[in-house]
Amino acid sequence: MNLQPYRYVRVDALDFLKTLPDGSVQLIITSPPYNIGKAYEKTTSLEQYLRQMEPILRELYRVLAPEGSLCWETGNYIDAATSEVFPLDIYYYPLFRELGLQLRNRIIWHFGHGLQCEKRFSGRYETILWFTKSDRYVFNLDAVRIPAKYPGKRAYKGKNKGQLSGNPKGKNPEDLWEATVERLYDDWDCGIWDVPNVKSKHPEKTVHPCQFPVELVERCVLALTNEGDVVYDPFAGVGSTLIAALKNGRQAYGTELMEDYVAIGLERIGKLARDDLKTRPIYQRIYQPTGKDKISSYPAEWLENRLAELDRMLLDLQSERAEVERDLAERDGETRKAP
Ligand SMILES: C[S@@+](CC[C@H](N)C(=O)[O-])C[C@H]1O[C@@H](n2cnc3c(N)ncnc32)[C@H](O)[C@@H]1O
Repeated sequence: MNLQPYRYVRVDALDFLKTLPDGSVQLIITSPPYNIGKAYEKTTSLEQYLRQMEPILRELYRVLAPEGSLCWETGNYIDAATSEVFPLDIYYYPLFRELGLQLRNRIIWHFGHGLQCEKRFSGRYETILWFTKSDRYVFNLDAVRIPAKYPGKRAYKGKNKGQLSGNPKGKNPEDLWEATVERLYDDWDCGIWDVPNVKSKHPEKTVHPCQFPVELVERCVLALTNEGDVVYDPFAGVGSTLIAALKNGRQAYGTELMEDYVAIGLERIGKLARDDLKTRPIYQRIYQPTGKDKISSYPAEWLENRLAELDRMLLDLQSERAEVERDLAERDGETRKAP
């Protein structure tokens, strides 16, 4: 695969930002450090943590394009002494608002797995605050539509009575995103306790403790940028944002303090260029219609669209099947070698 230009550097985000021209980045998407004592951060009070972030936030605003977007993914900061929970998006929201950004969605990213908490309900979601710099912004909804739950639904009254009420290209993916992948985080929500890692079998998993699934970023990249645009992740970790951007014909910038993570990320990008990187396909089946009731069946008018959807699903399944076959062959080879 031919990649667009990219810059992925081991440097402090603030230093890099100062080198970028005003309005030069179409999409900033990131998950910042949460101040929860990971190997890459020094914990401090919540107030101090936010104060330290402010110069970076100001620079992010400056480099954001006039029709650009910023997606800020966070979970909870948890006070080590009292275990009190502080949802970080609540604290970040006024800071972005003060800078002049406008909120478009507060997306809930829900996942089915994680630690079982003993003294409160187990956390099973994080949020993405999607802001734009103005009320004119790029939003390519058609690029991220998902299969409709009830494609055969028709208007039952009014002037469109009897007409199909949905869109043949699929439906809006809405603001509650199911993690269609296994959770990649080791100990995220209950992060202050040094619990054993939840080892994921996800094909993208690296040593990074809190990695983005590439498909999560891809949805934002496809909806909020056009081909050739610049996507930047100030806290790039092992490069998941760069991969999502480059995979979809966008330019990518990433900054990361830890040398090891940059090395892993560069290796992943190399694999992407050689068409050898395992990522979960973005196309996911959110809901399996039974096909038995009328409104779950595809209407005659949309059969071509359904066929195209099925073709995409088939391709995804074929590539997943090939991967499983390879893994199986590897496993059996290893088993035979064992004494
Ligand atoms: C929550 S992780 C992001 C992981 C990333 N989304 C991925 O998929 O790999 C935050 C990352 O920010 C990095 N970091 C923290 N402070 C930084 C700074 N001032 N400049 C650049 N990177 C920083 C940390 O080393 C850590 O890898």
